[in-house]
Amino acid sequence: MQPLIVVNFKTYETAMGAKAVELAKAMERASNSNVRMVAVVSAFDLHSVQQAAPTLEVWSQHLDPVGKGSFTGWLQPDNAIERGAKGTIINHAEHKVNIEHVKELMNQLPSSFPICACAADVDEAHQLAELGPTFIAVEPPELIGGDISVTTADPTIVSDTVTAVQSINPDVRVLCGAGVKDGDDVRTAVELGAHGVLLASGVTKAKNVEDVLANLVAGLE
Ligand code: G3P
Repeated sequence: MQPLIVVNFKTYETAMGAKAVELAKAMERASNSNVRMVAVVSAFDLHSVQQAAPTLEVWSQHLDPVGKGSFTGWLQPDNAIERGAKGTIINHAEHKVNIEHVKELMNQLPSSFPICACAADVDEAHQLAELGPTFIAVEPPELIGGDISVTTADPTIVSDTVTAVQSINPDVRVLCGAGVKDGDDVRTAVELGAHGVLLASGVTKAKNVEDVLANLVAGLE
């Protein structure tokens, strides 16, 4: 299976609205058959990004396990799917939920719909692995948005998470994130046993996005 490069657009000014569309198109151009490139966009931008970059896989940044009806302001899963979501992140460090939320969401979504549950450490990854999400992304919160990649600052959290998750459910694939910036970080992540990376600021704050995306992808060659 191809390793993943998952770019979380968060609410970066460089990655919302019209800029989200431009960034997604750049990601589509940077993609090749060695990599599964994923854009994780604001719910507002799902449809426009999917229309503008139809071959790019687009995920939601969050979903709520709610039905149709009296649920003002929640992110309803079928609505997200209808607007182009092909997967979702859940329990990101910046949008924590309880374990029941993850469980109910997984019950509600089609089994083919990838869910990437985020974990702050090995213990949380362990708990989430019991639920069997498609991916678990381990991201030490203190390294998020920083200059040092988790693969350099704390490589053992990546390998320990891979070991813990594999021992519970070998079908769950591990991603790692926080501070990931370049192809060397991607290569190291894969060497540590991860199936790819989850990153944001390395792309959203880049001076030259095309160069950064090309460099990230080159890490998998
Ligand atoms: O979702 C990815 C994220 O939390 C890591 O952010 O900016 O450290 O790549 P960043």
